[in-house]
Amino acid sequence: MPDVKITGLTKRFGDVVAVDAMDLHVPEGSLTTFLGPSGCGKTTTLRMIAGLETPSGGTIAIGNDIVCGDGFLMPPERRNIGMVFQSYAIWPHMNVFNNVAYPLQVRRLPRKEIRDKTMEALKVVRLAELAERYPAQLSGGQQQRVAVARAIVFQPRILLFDEPLSNLDAKLREAMRIELRELQQRLGVTTLYVTHDQQEALAISDQVAVMESGKIVQLGRPQEIYEAPVGKFVADFVGWTNFLAGTVGDKDAVDIAGTRIRCPVPPEFARGDKVEVTVRPVDFRIGEDKGPGDNEIAGELRASIYMGKYMICEVAIGPHIVQACARLGASLTPGAAVAVRFQPDAVRVLRA
Ligand SMILES: Nc1ncnc2c1ncn2[C@@H]1O[C@H](COP(=O)(O)OP(=O)(O)O)[C@@H](O)[C@H]1O
Ligand SMILES: [Mg+2]
Repeated sequence: MPDVKITGLTKRFGDVVAVDAMDLHVPEGSLTTFLGPSGCGKTTTLRMIAGLETPSGGTIAIGNDIVCGDGFLMPPERRNIGMVFQSYAIWPHMNVFNNVAYPLQVRRLPRKEIRDKTMEALKVVRLAELAERYPAQLSGGQQQRVAVARAIVFQPRILLFDEPLSNLDAKLREAMRIELRELQQRLGVTTLYVTHDQQEALAISDQVAVMESGKIVQLGRPQEIYEAPVGKFVADFVGWTNFLAGTVGDKDAVDIAGTRIRCPVPPEFARGDKVEVTVRPVDFRIGEDKGPGDNEIAGELRASIYMGKYMICEVAIGPHIVQACARLGASLTPGAAVAVRFQPDAVRVLRA
C-alpha cells in the first residue's frame, strides 16, 4: 500500500482560499482524518486527491506517483482511488450486485472475474445475501455498505471517505464507524477520512489533522490532539472544555479570578501575560475531598443536571461559568458555595 504526500497544496475559488498551502504525509496503511468545521476545506482537499478538482498549486504523490504538480494532472480514472461520499451516490435503478460491479465493468474485466470480485466485496461488507435487492429496499446503513463495497471492489491504491456516516442516526453511526475502522485495518489500505464529528475522528484515526480556514492547525494522534491542543480553536473543537481568563503569576502559576493555581506554564509565556486556561469538565471535581496537589477555586453552584452516571454542574467562578462533572451522591444545592478542585496537569495554558 502506498503512502500519500501532499506538499503546498492550494485551491482558490475566486477570492476564497479553500485550501491554503497544505503539507501532509499520510503513512502507508494508516487512517488519517481531516477534522474541522463546515467550510474549512475538507471536501476540496479530498476532491483534489481524487482528481475531481484541479489544484491552484502544490503537489500530491501517491507512493512514487505524482498525480498532480508542475502542470501535470492525472485524470481521476487513472488514479485508482476508491471514494465514498456522504450521499452514498449509489444508483437507484441498479441492484446491489450491479452497483458494486460497476467499477469492474468500466475496467472491462472478464465476466467471471467481475462476478467473483463483486461477491467477495459484498461478503466483506456482509451484504452477499442482498445482492439482488435494489437500494430502495435497503436501510441507510446497508446503502452505505454498498457504497463501501463499490469503493473497495477494484482494490484501489487508497480510500477516501467524505463524511460517510453523516446521514445515519446516532446509534448506527457509532456501530458503522467501528465497522469501517475494522475493515480499513483488515484491508490495510491507506485511508483519508473527512468528518466534522470529533468523537468519530478520535475513535477511528491513526492521526487527526485538525483544519481551520484551509490550513492544518494541528496534526497528531487522537490522544495528542485531545490532551495537548495547540490553541483555543483545537481545544474547543475537540472534546468538551471550559475556558477561563488568567494572568501568568509566578513560575508554573496562573491567577484566575483572584485565585492562584499551579499548572504547567509553557516557556513562551512570561509573568504578567494574559492567557486563556482550559480545563475539561471531567477533570474538575466538586463535592469531593481535597487530594494531594489539588488546586482549589471557590465558586457558587448555579445548577446541576442529572446525567445518569454523573451530574453536570454549572459553577460560577468570578465572572466565569464553568461546567464540571460531579459524582452522584454529592449533596449539591443550587446557590451553595462549592470548591472546584483539579490537578495541575489537567490545566492547559493557551494564548489569550
Ligand atoms: N465549487 C466551488 N466554488 C466556489 N467555492 C467553493 C466551491 N467548493 C467549495 N468552495 C468554498 O471553499 C471552501 C471550502 O469548502 P469545502 O471544501 O466544501 O469545505 P468542507 O468540506 O470543510 O465543509 C468554502 O468556503 C466553500 O464555500
Ligand atoms: Mg464537506
